[in-house]
Amino acid sequence: MEINKNVEDDGVIFMSIKEGKSEEIAKGKEDDVTILAIESSCDETAAAVVRNGREVLSNIISSQIALHTIYGGVVPEIASRKHVEKMNGCIRAALSEANLSLDDIDAIAVTYGPGLVGALLVGVSEAKAISFATGKPLIGVHHIEGHISANFIENKDLEPPFVCLVVSGGHSHLVVVKDYGEYEIIGQTRDDAAGEAFDKVARAIGLGYPGGPKIDKAAKDGNPDAFTFPKAQIADAEYDFSFSGLKSSVLNYINQAKMQGQELDQKDVAASFQKAVVEVLVSHAIKACKEYGYDKLAIAGGVASNSGLRELMEKECQKENIRFYRPSPVLCTDNAAMIGAAAYYEYQKGVRFGLDMNAVPNLPLGDRERRFHGRGN
Ligand code: KG4
Ligand code: ZN
Repeated sequence: MEINKNVEDDGVIFMSIKEGKSEEIAKGKEDDVTILAIESSCDETAAAVVRNGREVLSNIISSQIALHTIYGGVVPEIASRKHVEKMNGCIRAALSEANLSLDDIDAIAVTYGPGLVGALLVGVSEAKAISFATGKPLIGVHHIEGHISANFIENKDLEPPFVCLVVSGGHSHLVVVKDYGEYEIIGQTRDDAAGEAFDKVARAIGLGYPGGPKIDKAAKDGNPDAFTFPKAQIADAEYDFSFSGLKSSVLNYINQAKMQGQELDQKDVAASFQKAVVEVLVSHAIKACKEYGYDKLAIAGGVASNSGLRELMEKECQKENIRFYRPSPVLCTDNAAMIGAAAYYEYQKGVRFGLDMNAVPNLPLGDRERRFHGRGN
């Protein structure tokens, strides 16, 4: 994977990600399905061209992280405004890197939920405008289904059924991917999402935003056994997660240390906190594979790029003879290639959205209701 980065004048980082070396893209075949995918659910404006669900012809991400860092988190209105500014440039770059024009595209896919409503609306409106102008079909994609589908891009052999642990800033789900686009949720968080816990703890120990990558980095030089933070187990739902107790325990420790005038060892707290989160995620996922009888396990979402999680999951999967799948870190965090991958399987099933498509900020995973709108309305 080759990543070219360029910091623009406004602090936004423009990235072009290429699978393998930038060799010339092979000519497509007559029955290929080439999808232009758009993602704008949070603070990344992204566009990609994906062929047959698994071949990424271009993958452009315009990341606003630096703009939100000064506020300690994503400011929704700034995110939406930047999406408006950056979207056309990302789409133009995605088409140009794929050496294609809109004429060569078979469908337009876009994340329509869940996410920040103002941010989602930018992508949804853009996709609808392109669909209207070109007459090409429109496909709405669930953001989390996109994250799960990121696994198909580099693992050409991966096919459902398999278990997937989805851990992002807004979601912590343990799901059985029964078929393409068919999910059974077997566990989810009762309170904070895993990424949210990383972000809150990072802020509390003074690492700032974005928390996940900063804790990951600090944890590398810390002692994971310095503190024993609680790992919540929910009695009546063994696959559910709860991270608020763990977060409170870290906050209590910080307050106590402050009151006693002790210096806070950021690295040890980061390593011990990360260990507590990662152990729960891994043990739930492995248990689900064993009890539900699956020998394939994938991870997805921003937290799936965590090095501690990847390491422990790999080790435990090896022990249990489970095949472990994970996207490259840059495909774990928000991108449009994953949306194009998910959209392909929807396209094949005949899913088409109408021009009445709207953003759905709290769209549940597996909600199929809205997918079969007619065109032309
Ligand atoms: O999937 P994502 O990019 O956006 C959402 O859909 O939410 O996930 C963002 C979340 C943030 O909470 C971020 O702190 C976390 O993923 N994250 C990480 C790492 N990289 C991103 N958490 C732990 N370790 C990381 N290396
Ligand atoms: Zn995401």
